Amino acid sequence: MSTPHVHLKGITRRLGTCVANDGVELELVPGEIHALVGENGAGKSTLMKVLFGLHQPDEGEILIDGRRVRMTDPRAAMRHGLGMVHQHFMLVDTLTVAENVTLGSETQARFGLLAPGDAEREVAALAERYRLPVDPKARISQLSVGAQQRVEILKALYRGARVLILDEPTAVLTPQEVDELFAVLRALVADGVSIVLITHKLAEVKALATRLTVLRAGRRVATALVADTSIERMAELMVGHVPAPLTERSDEAPGAPLLEVRGLEVRDARRLPAVRDVSFAVRAGEIVGIAGVEGNGQHELIECLAGLCPPSRGDVRIAGAAVSGHGAREHRAAGLAHIPSDRLHRGLVSDMSLAENLVLGLQRRPGVGTGPWLGGHTLEDASRARLQEYDVRPPDPRAFAGRLSGGNQQKLIAARELTQGARAILAAHPTRGVDLGAIDFIHRRLLAERDAGRAVLLVSSELSEILALSDRILVLYEGRIVHETTPAATDERTLGLHMTGRASHGDSPLPPREGAPRTSGGLA
Ligand SMILES: Nc1ncnc2c1ncn2[C@@H]1O[C@H](COP(=O)(O)OP(=O)(O)O)[C@@H](O)[C@H]1O
Ligand SMILES: [Mg+2]
Repeated sequence: MSTPHVHLKGITRRLGTCVANDGVELELVPGEIHALVGENGAGKSTLMKVLFGLHQPDEGEILIDGRRVRMTDPRAAMRHGLGMVHQHFMLVDTLTVAENVTLGSETQARFGLLAPGDAEREVAALAERYRLPVDPKARISQLSVGAQQRVEILKALYRGARVLILDEPTAVLTPQEVDELFAVLRALVADGVSIVLITHKLAEVKALATRLTVLRAGRRVATALVADTSIERMAELMVGHVPAPLTERSDEAPGAPLLEVRGLEVRDARRLPAVRDVSFAVRAGEIVGIAGVEGNGQHELIECLAGLCPPSRGDVRIAGAAVSGHGAREHRAAGLAHIPSDRLHRGLVSDMSLAENLVLGLQRRPGVGTGPWLGGHTLEDASRARLQEYDVRPPDPRAFAGRLSGGNQQKLIAARELTQGARAILAAHPTRGVDLGAIDFIHRRLLAERDAGRAVLLVSSELSEILALSDRILVLYEGRIVHETTPAATDERTLGLHMTGRASHGDSPLPPREGAPRTSGGLA
């Protein structure tokens, strides 16, 4: 099949009370990589679901090679040569690569289950043609995230896709896996396939795409050649204003250690050690970033520091006092604030008001748990000021937390956690899934907290965030700290190597930070 010319014309799609797409225009020329960018909630996924037949447009039409087509469902879209790789993969863990690729395809529907050998041979041939390294016999559960993504791409190609829609494909990948994916995508484009790349990482747009379309609040604000558009301009189009640069790192030497762990071992749900012999200290006035591929002990480390899971060995000190790991309340009382990654389970109660959420976990503080704080006007008035200060929209103390967008929920948590005067702050994936405006806001707050002499431990799988905010960086790999560095002495690529255990030891000296000899830090 030749690659079709795709034209989305005036697409409007309403979801609930929100207009997810408002008269959006997008044209896809055969063989181009078209980046679809915009903040969270801008309407990118919705637009592509309309194209792929997962949503019906309320207005507008889809033209394929100039002819109007109704995409009634994904099968119709596949018949027109479209394929989509979703943000969350849709693979069957217990089946092999070949089985997953051929499962439910037209060939299989027509001729019944393929003999395993046939399926494997077909998939191997396809993988070779598009230079997608995968083992057709491997089970999905054995594969890395990057390899699973290649299987999703193969699945689409097996069904004859000539237009590939990738929804935030790099969000789950390490820098090395991103390079591998981009090589695959370039090979596909060389073969004449067109690609829609949904992303909000603008460096990726620069590296890969030929054109970009920017959505903001459901509307298209621009379509342009990537070569003509600077990253700054793209960011401005996305958020509607020019983001101010982050403040300079202060040169002041950090002070006393406020969050310390020594010889820490934490076991996971299966009782296996997930954090192994970890020691570090975060001092007053510094941000220490923990980098790592998800699943290398970050989760257990966070749970332990927050007091939600006691260590099986070693100890934790908060502001100089030993804590037991036996309760979030004890850790809070010792001086720890916690911005959790799991907003809706750990951070907020969605059917409580914003005002109530602001005092969540603080009810036992003097003056909070009693009388006017819960229920009266005092709480509301105090809350309104704080919501405004933290730019929570709408700043209505009576609104339910569950109604806020992800970015506003995160700002609400920051408003609660960062206004208690805690001396140590545990920020766990503080900007995951939030829009650029909120990311920028939270970054500035964390830097302000550091400058005010707090100790901040930042755990994040976003390397750009780690590099932008940290004074020191520790890399966690298989539960151990395998590398310590500073943003000035490293880059995403180098960190990526350490994060995947591929850096050979000894080739990256640990640079001492001025005013903070490294022996006082992580690896002492
Ligand atoms: N199933 C749904 N029901 C109601 N609103 C939705 C639904 N899916 C998405 N939305 C809303 O539509 C808007 C666009 O969402 P989406 O297309 O997912 O944005 P993006 O992919 O750019 O982050 C958002 O405001 C989102 O909250
Ligand atoms: Mg999306």
